[in-house]
Amino acid sequence: MYKNLLGALAVAGLWLDGVAARRRLSCRDDLNTFITKQNDISLKGVLANIGPDGSKAQGAAAGAVVASPSKSDPDYWYTWSRDSALTFKVLVELFIGGNKSLQPKIEQYITAQAHLQGVINPSGGPDSGGLGEPKFHVDLTAFTGSWGRPQRDGPPLRATALTIYANWLIANGGTSEATNTVWPIIAKDLAYTVQYWNRTGFDLWEEVNGSSFFTLSASYRALVEGAALAKALNKQCPDCETNAPRVLCFLQSFWANGYVDSNINVNDGRVGKDVNSIISSIHTFDPAAACTDATFQPCSSRALANHKAVVDSFRTIYTVNKGRTAGKAAAVGRYSEDVYYNGNPWYLATMAAAEQMYAAVYQWQKIGSIKVDAMSLPFFRDLVPSIATGTYAKNSDTFTSVIKAVTAYGDDFINVVKQYTPADGSMAEQFDRETGAPKSAVHLTWSYASFVGAIERRSGVVPPSWGEPTSNTVPAVCEAPPSCDSTMTFNVKVTTVPGESIFVVGSITELKNWSPADAIPLDASQYTSSNPLWTAKIKLPAATNFDYKYIKKTNDGTVIWESDPNRSATSSTGCNSSGTLNDQWR
Ligand code: NOJ
Ligand code: NOJ
Repeated sequence: MYKNLLGALAVAGLWLDGVAARRRLSCRDDLNTFITKQNDISLKGVLANIGPDGSKAQGAAAGAVVASPSKSDPDYWYTWSRDSALTFKVLVELFIGGNKSLQPKIEQYITAQAHLQGVINPSGGPDSGGLGEPKFHVDLTAFTGSWGRPQRDGPPLRATALTIYANWLIANGGTSEATNTVWPIIAKDLAYTVQYWNRTGFDLWEEVNGSSFFTLSASYRALVEGAALAKALNKQCPDCETNAPRVLCFLQSFWANGYVDSNINVNDGRVGKDVNSIISSIHTFDPAAACTDATFQPCSSRALANHKAVVDSFRTIYTVNKGRTAGKAAAVGRYSEDVYYNGNPWYLATMAAAEQMYAAVYQWQKIGSIKVDAMSLPFFRDLVPSIATGTYAKNSDTFTSVIKAVTAYGDDFINVVKQYTPADGSMAEQFDRETGAPKSAVHLTWSYASFVGAIERRSGVVPPSWGEPTSNTVPAVCEAPPSCDSTMTFNVKVTTVPGESIFVVGSITELKNWSPADAIPLDASQYTSSNPLWTAKIKLPAATNFDYKYIKKTNDGTVIWESDPNRSATSSTGCNSSGTLNDQWR
């Protein structure tokens, strides 16, 4: 009897196990079905947004990637250098992976970028910082409205997309195309990166003017692989090799006690946990790398601890994450303090969280072991509660359970995306933090590209190495690049009376960021009534675009500004160069 009861219980248990297994299996089947379908929709979604013949990009130039067909609320009918380069990185990888139909698109992108590099815009001209302009009209003309500029991630991101392609050309009989068509574009992007990486600029979200982890990560990768490409093509990449280790050194300073502080050198009032850092880790993922902390590889202890910190920061603030406690995937946004459209989860951010997991799994399989240390232990504990620090070899049970749990964790982020993607597979930019309904720009190219990119990793398709294994040593002392200054003479003719003085103030640090209290005084020693000249020599970074105005201060502290609009100018090109601005007060 007793025996029978046990037996019956055992049978019932087995039966229950079977149900659970079948349920698990059917969940995974569901997910796989979704992924197959959504991947196809996403690739088509990307192509529909590329001119000239994309169905949603009518009127866009050949090779121009439209960010979204949305023309109002928000107006994304522009081509951003960042979105375009990240999208083409995915397309180039797919092309190399066998989708040869993408080659004409890649060629059109190359032609479009060669043209864009020459377009004079509010960030400057081709040699004076213009490559840092974030976005252009879809017909490839300059956008001149006010915007968070410059953004210095565009050039290195484009260099990377094109370098992957150039290396493929070299390996496939296309060395002359690589040399004559692709390299000249890459060379300009690398020259920009060399010259400007140590300057502040706007982050990838176009909001914060400082030093962005993402921009510096992209710069590092581009310089390393760019220097190697130059060698392969017998070309020069001036100062790429000297600057790369400096960038790597600087990148270390974003590590803030257990996570990456995504924006530094700026007082942004944020904790710094931002999916910026996760997108960086997947961008600099190198399939040949170990789990290197210095380069924040997806499987590194730092990047895993950071993944947990960033994902956890969204768990309690979004209603859609109710019940999604640590260890379960969650909807991920840009950063917790975000207020854009009220601050919501983004598809591309949630996909990035998935992609890091797949990339890490790839690395552990390749390396053949998993190391759990004090820094990464909390990440692993969420997924495998019994785990302890140690190194687990491929044949161990712990290795197997971690691989299984991390893969399932990655899949679970895709389940979140699945839950909030409409039945027709269209992907907007965001989904509502409370209702999960799609929000902001419709058919966002970057959302679609992020889906395709993550699914590539999930299926074990990886890009070529960018050279991380031989470029991951951090210099003992961080070195700044030598400064490259221009001395600009500001001459303004303005009639003044005793007690009045003239100052200049403007949009860059050297011109005191528009702070009238800190404005730079001009000198009146050459002033005569027939030549009322006020003058100052000011050191500015060379080849830099800036806005400025003169102001008049009176003895009683009154400040009188020149009339609108702001003046704009570019400092002279070349280190130790000089230039003169001759102005008339207005
Ligand atoms: C538009 C930018 O693209 C977006 O990232 C930003 O949050 C908003 N402007 C608000 O500054
Ligand atoms: C706003 C995002 O913050 C920015 O990263 C992106 O480049 C633009 N939208 C266009 O998609």
